[in-house]
Amino acid sequence: HAADAYRTDLMTITRFVLNEQCKHPESRGDFSILLSHIVLGCKFVCSAVNKAGLAKLIGLAGETNVQGEEQKKLDVLSNEVFIKALVSSGRTCILVSEEDEEATFVESSKRGRYCVVFDPLDGSSNIDCGVSIGTIFGIYMVKDGGEPTLDDVLQPGKNMLAAGYCMYGSSCTIPKKGKIYSVNEGNAKNWDGPTAKYVEKCKFPQDGSSSKSLRYIGSMVADVHRTLLYGGIFLYPADKKSPNGKLRVLYEVFPMSFLMEQAGGQAFTGKQRALDLIPQKIHERSPIFLGSSDDVEEVKALYAAEE
Ligand code: AHG
Ligand code: MN
Ligand code: MN
Ligand code: MN
Repeated sequence: HAADAYRTDLMTITRFVLNEQCKHPESRGDFSILLSHIVLGCKFVCSAVNKAGLAKLIGLAGETNVQGEEQKKLDVLSNEVFIKALVSSGRTCILVSEEDEEATFVESSKRGRYCVVFDPLDGSSNIDCGVSIGTIFGIYMVKDGGEPTLDDVLQPGKNMLAAGYCMYGSSCTIPKKGKIYSVNEGNAKNWDGPTAKYVEKCKFPQDGSSSKSLRYIGSMVADVHRTLLYGGIFLYPADKKSPNGKLRVLYEVFPMSFLMEQAGGQAFTGKQRALDLIPQKIHERSPIFLGSSDDVEEVKALYAAEE
């Protein structure tokens, strides 16, 4: 049978969404349309990433984004494609992207009810060497009544209706406890006490358990993807140089925390459940510890002991 070697009953995001929509005959299909535009953006980025070397898409665009990062050509191109796809869906009203300093307010003739926060290309430092990279998105519903304002996207992560990522170049439940820790250890000299203690425990466990393996790719999408499949913990903690860590709340921390919780894991900022955070600025950052429930629980205990 061909089916022995290949999967022939193909589940795609479009098929899944259409199936779900059928279960809700009262729905207007707005969300399905929005998702199909996100999928369109992902397909474009996928093909651009795959031929980046040939299509002269490798390298810097020459600009710096509001985060002070040098933009890669693919950061700029992916952002443009997503903004255009989302606006033309007619279902969005506010867009927040890593690559744009200001939020985009969709003109009233093309306006819909959804707010989309996204990282068009995550892991862009890995583009030129062919390591996995991806797109991250989160979706909110605009609050009722009146003109849309920034407050519509400055909402706690738990209010997200949906979140997702698409990985390029290369239904999860995550194990309760994992054997992997994932962190940029080059920052260790600047870590706070609980982070340092936790990573020390990963390497030299005192309770007779075996030490964890270190895996760190440096693309959040790829590191979180592995964590969803194999379990363990991914952390981008605060350090003395970056008191809020590096990762951005709206389009990195929230969507990935949302997915981690949906898969049975936890996401913690060092102070609280990540999804309870209420962001004050669109590009705000937060420390993040996410992954298998028991592993994140250990981090929480170390921070609680600190107080
Ligand atoms: P982006 O490429 O969207 O700017 O995100 C980069 C982020 C994230 O993907 C990753 O977890 C982290 O930066 C890696 O940072 P370090 O190089 O400091 O380890
Ligand atoms: Mn960036
Ligand atoms: Mn990113
Ligand atoms: Mn990015």
